[in-house]
Amino acid sequence: MDQNTSFSLPSSRSPVTAATGKLGVLIPGLGAVGTTMIAGVEAAKQGLAAPVGSLTQMGRIRLGKRTENRNPLIKDLAPIAELDDIVFGGWDIYEDNVYQAAIVAKVLDQSMLEKVRPELERIKPMTAVFDKEYVRNLDGKHIKQGATKADLAEQLMEDIRSFKESNGCERLVMVWCGSTEKYIEQAPVHATIEAFEEGLRNNDPLIAPSLIYAYAAIMSGVPFANGAPNLSCDVPAMVELAKRRGVAIAGKDFKTGQTLMKTILAPGFEARALGVKGWFSTNILGNRDGLVLDDPENFKTKEVSKLSVLEQVLKPDVNPELYGDLYHKVRINYYPPHGDNKESWDNIDIFGWMGYPMQIKVNFLCRDSILAAPIVLDLALFLDLAQRAGMSGIQEWLSFYFKSPQTAPGLPPEHDLFKQLIKLQNTVRHIMGEDLITHLGLDYYQELVEAL
Ligand SMILES: NC(=O)c1ccc[n+]([C@@H]2O[C@H](COP(=O)([O-])OP(=O)(O)OC[C@H]3O[C@@H](n4cnc5c(N)ncnc54)[C@H](O)[C@@H]3O)[C@@H](O)[C@H]2O)c1
Repeated sequence: MDQNTSFSLPSSRSPVTAATGKLGVLIPGLGAVGTTMIAGVEAAKQGLAAPVGSLTQMGRIRLGKRTENRNPLIKDLAPIAELDDIVFGGWDIYEDNVYQAAIVAKVLDQSMLEKVRPELERIKPMTAVFDKEYVRNLDGKHIKQGATKADLAEQLMEDIRSFKESNGCERLVMVWCGSTEKYIEQAPVHATIEAFEEGLRNNDPLIAPSLIYAYAAIMSGVPFANGAPNLSCDVPAMVELAKRRGVAIAGKDFKTGQTLMKTILAPGFEARALGVKGWFSTNILGNRDGLVLDDPENFKTKEVSKLSVLEQVLKPDVNPELYGDLYHKVRINYYPPHGDNKESWDNIDIFGWMGYPMQIKVNFLCRDSILAAPIVLDLALFLDLAQRAGMSGIQEWLSFYFKSPQTAPGLPPEHDLFKQLIKLQNTVRHIMGEDLITHLGLDYYQELVEAL
């Protein structure tokens, strides 16, 4: 092994176990994202569509030196569960099965949905834990009743147990694809496991449904990821519980659309020491997510998540001359005619040599759920891999998929998509006992020069 380009961490690595048997993927929130992901997996299984955008299915990873030309698919390097071994389940506040919910979501063509109709119709949501206080714009009736939140958590744990048993699953993972809940700050009830459990018994109003799902998952030994921007597994009580139970967790808020673009573009400006004065971002979308975000309290949760990205990438405090005056604004407007096809506009005011101003305009006609679906699949499969590799607690290497990556307390998150990718790939190499890659490459030049 060449010390210039790679290094190993064998001592901290436990061998990863094989992905045998069935993997249950449980989704709280079978809406646009959840149903698009499930339909895509079913279509991929039948060879009807390719799982584009999914690293676990189509991504490659370099091993060794560039001169070795080894670039296997990630799934050929690491023992990632096969799509054929996945069984889907989930919860929703509406009774629609996944086929019906996918029709309502209007993301996929009817002709495609017909091809996977029997598989989708088979998946019927379990009754949800729901609190209208947290999502005022929705009014579903398919919900659990319970005297206390502890009782509701117990019911979820029972759902998890019986799903696992009746579907003959060896392992489970859970990815929250439910609506964005209203903004709440971390409070004493979230600080310790004891305070949280006390709060469950006393129906503490600051325990949102997504927290109850996270608790039920972790208590059941099921890895959990949060795709929405609200608090869920990212409070000290859940982090501690995950550590104690040896469960992998990750969050939060799937990185798609405008924020994905931001974390592609901003690192480029910063890399070239170009200044940024202003970044105005506006969006229109007309799906159910847009309806929920039309409520100011739910939008606040999203806004906090979206705003943090630029500051972390550009670091105005470290680089005040280039980014000290940065003005960043994000707007989302509900516009039903666009459905799931979100449209975003970004006006970016940058400046270059001698302070001369320039402008960049980005008009992204994206499909939100098409971008989010592969993220859900990858999170489910990578969390399952992490769990089998004996990794528990916060999985920061999955930051790649999130707008607000969950990190250890006090550790600033990394938002740069490319640094996140390096971390993800090196973690996969580490899990598999491969040399890590630093991209230094000086030795190649030496070897190539010497070979001349
Ligand atoms: N699509 C994207 O690009 C994207 C990006 C980042 C984050 N997200 C987040 O992912 C989540 C899902 O997005 P979507 O477009 O599928 O929204 P959606 O409104 O289509 O689906 C959400 C579903 O969750 C259900 N739900 C709400 N509360 C629930 C609860 N307590 N238990 C079970 N089900 C519940 C709703 O009934 C709905 O069917 C949202 O929080 C959204 O903000 C989406």
